[in-house]
Order: sequence, then structure tokens, then C-alpha cells
Amino acid sequence: MGTGKLAAGLGDVRLGVKSGVFSGEALPKKLPLSFAAMKSATLSPGLSVRTLTPEDAVEYWTLRLMGLQESPAAFGSSYEESKDSPAAEQAKRLAFAPGEGLVVGVFSDHLVGLGGLSRCERLKERHKAWIWGLYVLPDFRQRGAGRAIMVQLLDYARVNPTIVMINLTVTTTNLAAKRLYEDLGFSTIGHEPKALQVGGAYYDWNHMSMECHPVSSDT
Ligand SMILES: CC(C)(COP(=O)(O)OP(=O)(O)OC[C@H]1O[C@@H](n2cnc3c(N)ncnc32)[C@H](O)[C@@H]1OP(=O)(O)O)[C@@H](O)C(=O)NCCC(=O)NCCS
Repeated sequence: MGTGKLAAGLGDVRLGVKSGVFSGEALPKKLPLSFAAMKSATLSPGLSVRTLTPEDAVEYWTLRLMGLQESPAAFGSSYEESKDSPAAEQAKRLAFAPGEGLVVGVFSDHLVGLGGLSRCERLKERHKAWIWGLYVLPDFRQRGAGRAIMVQLLDYARVNPTIVMINLTVTTTNLAAKRLYEDLGFSTIGHEPKALQVGGAYYDWNHMSMECHPVSSDT
């Protein structure tokens, strides 16, 4: 299936969501205790997955800018606002303190896909993490790269018991990404109308969430 019309969604970090966005359509699903039961990530031959480090900054930033250009409705960040930031500046984004997050990449002979997970910084939101920036080059899609990145991000959260909730946003028309997130256990918990304006068109967001380590709500 072609991905052009499906390439809309969002992967950027949101550090706050306005009240009223969450409609209570559904409670977030719980992350399975074991990923063994979850569909395993099968990458096509010739592709490999690993966590990026600051040494990957140039490739990371090149691919990130390509994604912002190729799939503008998929991300809250814009190419126009991002293009002048030097790759050296982005190395900081790949240098996470332990437990604060990671960026995962899929490689062929070069970086072809990426996605990140960042833990919220504010004291009252430390139990939450956001998945952002999931992107795979068009020629490498539907070969398991997106799933492999997501599984590695979720594995990172699974072994960190202080990450209780994992959130993300996705453009409502991005059926490929939504199907992947739902398949991995995310539930749609809200709908934000006209969340993005890109080239004169408006795009709605779905807010999606998953309970990573269940705790009672008054804990
Ligand atoms: C969304 C995206 C990351 C998926 O990456 P990918 O490497 O093609 O994904 P995978 O090959 O791992 O497929 C994983 C699952 O995604 C779903 N999926 C992927 N492409 C799909 C398509 N064209 N139509 C429907 N579902 C699709 C399927 O559920 C698939 O599982 P399956 O192979 O068992 O059916 C990729 O299409 C992309 O980069 N799109 C542009 C940027 C974007 O939209 N990012 C998401 C921001 S929220």
C-alpha cells in the first residue's frame, strides 16, 4: 500500500496538553508484562537497529530534516524552523542522562529510520514519557523498521519501573502509524481538532496512551 496519503501524524515531544483535550474515549491500555506475547519485530535482511549516540548526530539530523520535509503533517516541528540548527547542536539531543530516554535508529548502510522516547522533566510529570519523531525513509517502509524502533523504545520503558505512562500524538489520517501504535497496545484517549496547520490545511491529532507499569490512581 502506498504511504503518501498515510504519511501524516506526529512524533514530536509534547510537554503539556491543554485541559479538555482528553475526552475520556477510552482508558489507556496496559503494557503487557512481557513483550514475548507481542508481535516480535522482524526486520528485513540487511537492516539493523540500535540506540543512537552523539556520534550519530550528523546522520540523525540529516534524516530528521528529510522527514520534516517529506512528511510535514506527521510532525509538530517544521523544516523551516529546524533547518538552520547545526547538527552539533543535535548531538545534545542524543546524549540522554540514564533513564531519561533514548533515540533508536534503523540502519542499512546508512540511517534509514529513527524514533525517540523522552521522559518528562517536571516533577509532577516524571512518571510520563513521550514517544516522538518516528520516521522511516519511504524506500525502507513496510520492512519492519518502524515496529523495530517502537519495540526498542517500549522495551526501554518496560525495564524502568518509574515510567508509568507512555504517550504520543498522531495525525488522525495517519492510518499506517495508528495501526502500528494500536497493534503495540496504545489506546486513543483523545481527539484534538485542528491541531496542526500545514500548507493551509488543518490536521487533527489523536492522543494515544499506554499504561506501562500499572499503579492505582491515588498512589
Ligand atoms: C509510520 C511509519 C513510521 C511506519 O514505518 P514502517 O517501517 O513502514 O513500519 P513497519 O514496516 O514496521 O510496519 C509496522 C506496522 O505498521 C502498520 N503499517 C505500516 N505501513 C502501513 C501502511 N502503509 N498501511 C497500513 N498499515 C501500515 C502495520 O500495522 C504494520 O504491521 P504489519 O507489517 O504486521 O502489518 C512510516 O510509514 C513513516 O515513516 N511514515 C511517515 C512519518 C510518520 O507518519 N511518522 C509517524 C508519526 S506519529
